[in-house]
Amino acid sequence: MFTGGGSETDALAIRGAALAQREHGEHLITQPTEHPAVLETFRALQTEGFRVSYLPVDRYGQVSPRDLQEALTDHTTVVSIMLGNAETGTIQPIAELAALTRAHRAVFHTDAAQAVGKIPVDVENLGVDLLTVVGHKMYAPKGVGALYIRAGTPLHPIITGGGQEHGLRAGTENVALIAALGAAAHLSAEELPHSVPRLRELRDRLYRQLEHQLPGRVHLNGHPTTRLPGTLNITIDGVRGRQLLASTPAIAAATGSACHEGVDQPSPVLTAMGLDDHRAATALRLSLGRWSTTTDIDRATQLIAAHTLESEFSERPAEPNPSRQ
Ligand SMILES: Cc1ncc(COP(=O)(O)O)c(C=O)c1O
Repeated sequence: MFTGGGSETDALAIRGAALAQREHGEHLITQPTEHPAVLETFRALQTEGFRVSYLPVDRYGQVSPRDLQEALTDHTTVVSIMLGNAETGTIQPIAELAALTRAHRAVFHTDAAQAVGKIPVDVENLGVDLLTVVGHKMYAPKGVGALYIRAGTPLHPIITGGGQEHGLRAGTENVALIAALGAAAHLSAEELPHSVPRLRELRDRLYRQLEHQLPGRVHLNGHPTTRLPGTLNITIDGVRGRQLLASTPAIAAATGSACHEGVDQPSPVLTAMGLDDHRAATALRLSLGRWSTTTDIDRATQLIAAHTLESEFSERPAEPNPSRQ
């Protein structure tokens, strides 16, 4: 079914499945590196009387199936674990997690916003009950999303009214955006066999070049291999992501921090992985996409390396001036 974007889709999946099964139990499970659209939905459900368990993640940001197995109870009704992480690209072992959940007769949801259109995603292979798709993550316009619902999955609507979308989302459908999402999905599926190796190669070229230019100073945040092909999250010793981006406007990237009242707050995703506040707050997230080229990668390497070496030079204590001695 179609929705107005990722936040609405996540809310419908998690809240809808939790409410539909409330008489069977009030225990829900998720993990801390989810998007706020998921985390805030769970937080709201907590205030409404549900109990939520947050599984730990390892240093790559992955959840362990063993931890899920231990957390599942007879009262667990919904488990939500994302497919690919927005900040680090780390991919979760969804097929294993979904199988464990369904063996417990609970509903398994995955937020695949960052993965659909970037890697092959097959709901049958993954064995999920609910899966979130976000249009603008695969070059569709903003403001449209979709929820895959396995037949028979219990779900309550969160918008009630005229009965559209099989009674799960009232309101006249936005046909233009839905058609655009369909076209974007079609294009992504066509290019996927080429885009996955191409982006992986470009991303690894960027990382290798940075390591070569700044030996021993570039640290990868996220899983080294089980990762979305276009995502590179790094911390460079001595460099603050925010300052680097301010001084190199040719690079459009994100940092590992949010600025609240003038103070850098480290990314909760990176701190959940055990990174210290400094490494998390100074991180840099470089994302590659359909139009990234080798020339872009080489230019980005050059700019980042130049900024790093310059900032190191400007932070060095001034040499004593021999003429004054
Ligand atoms: C993983 C994930 N889930 C949900 C969302 C929310 O999507 P939207 O902004 O369409 O509500 C995003 C958007 O960035 C996302 O990356």
